[in-house]
Amino acid sequence: MSLHRYQDIDWSRLWQQAQAERSWQPKGVADWDERAASFARRTGQSAYADAFLALLKPEPDWSVLDVGSGPGTLALPLAAKVRTVTCIDFSPKMLAILADRAERNRLDNIATLPLSWDDDWRACGLLSHDLVIASRSLAVADLGAALRRLNEFAAHRVAVTDRVGAGPHDPDAFAAVGRPLHPGPDYIFTVNILYEMGCLATVDFIRLEETARYRNLEQALARYHWMLPELDTRETKRLQAYIRSIARNCDDGSIALHPRHVPTWAYITWHPDRKRS
Ligand SMILES: C[S@@+](CC[C@H](N)C(=O)[O-])C[C@H]1O[C@@H](n2cnc3c(N)ncnc32)[C@H](O)[C@@H]1O
Repeated sequence: MSLHRYQDIDWSRLWQQAQAERSWQPKGVADWDERAASFARRTGQSAYADAFLALLKPEPDWSVLDVGSGPGTLALPLAAKVRTVTCIDFSPKMLAILADRAERNRLDNIATLPLSWDDDWRACGLLSHDLVIASRSLAVADLGAALRRLNEFAAHRVAVTDRVGAGPHDPDAFAAVGRPLHPGPDYIFTVNILYEMGCLATVDFIRLEETARYRNLEQALARYHWMLPELDTRETKRLQAYIRSIARNCDDGSIALHPRHVPTWAYITWHPDRKRS
C-alpha cells in the first residue's frame, strides 16, 4: 500500500512492528529483581534525575503517581518537593530498596504498591493523582493502551521519558563485540501516537554527557553487563579492547570513559484534558 497522507500512517502498528524487530525481549519480574541493587547503585545520585526534575518543576501541593518507579530514582527527590508520591512497580526488590531509602531519609509521604502495567489498577484501589510520571518505564506490550491508562489516572498532567535512538545502549560497544543492535521504537512513535490521541505534547531532551569514572577496567567492564549479557571469552576480549580505546587515566588513579555515544532521553509532557480540536 502506498501512503500519500499523514493520516494513513498507523503509528501503533508501526510501533508493534518495530518492537518485534528489537534485539532483546522485555525483562520480567525476576530479571528486574536481580538487577535492582546494581540499578539502584548506578542511579542513586544521577544527572538524569536532576534534569528530569528541572524540566518538571514540581509544586508543593501535588500528588504524584510514579509508574515503574524502580528504586526511587525520581520518587525520593520528588517526595521532598511535593505532597505525596505513590510508586507502582512489578519488582518487589525495587520497591523494597525504595521503601528502605525512604525510611532512612525520613520521607513518610511515599506509598509503594506492587503492581504491573497489566494489572487492573482501579480494582487494586489506585486513585487519580495530580501528576502521573513514567520515567524510562514504558516497557509495555501496547503503547497506546499504556498512554491512555496514564491519562486516565492523571487529573492534570502526565510526564514520561522515552529513548532517543539507542538510548542508554552504546552502539560502538555492540559493534566492537560483534553483536547486532536493534533498539526498537523510540520516542518519535510515542509522540505520534499521542498526536493521534489528540494530546498536545511538548518534547524536551535530556542528554547525559557526564563522564563515568571507574576504579579499574574490571569495574568499567561490569558496567556493560546489563547491556551485553552473557559474553563469551572472545566477546569479553573485544569489549575490553573497546573500553581501553575510550578510557583515559585520571590523576586520582581512576579511569574515565569517553564513549562517542551520548545517551539521550526524550522528556514528553502533556495535559490529558487539553486536546487538539
Ligand atoms: C529502567 S527502570 C526505571 C526506573 C525509574 N523510573 C528510573 O527512571 O530510574 C524500569 C522499571 O520499570 C519496572 N517495570 C518493567 N516492566 C514493568 C511492568 N510490566 N509493570 C510494572 N513495572 C515494570 C522495572 O521493575 C523497573 O523498576
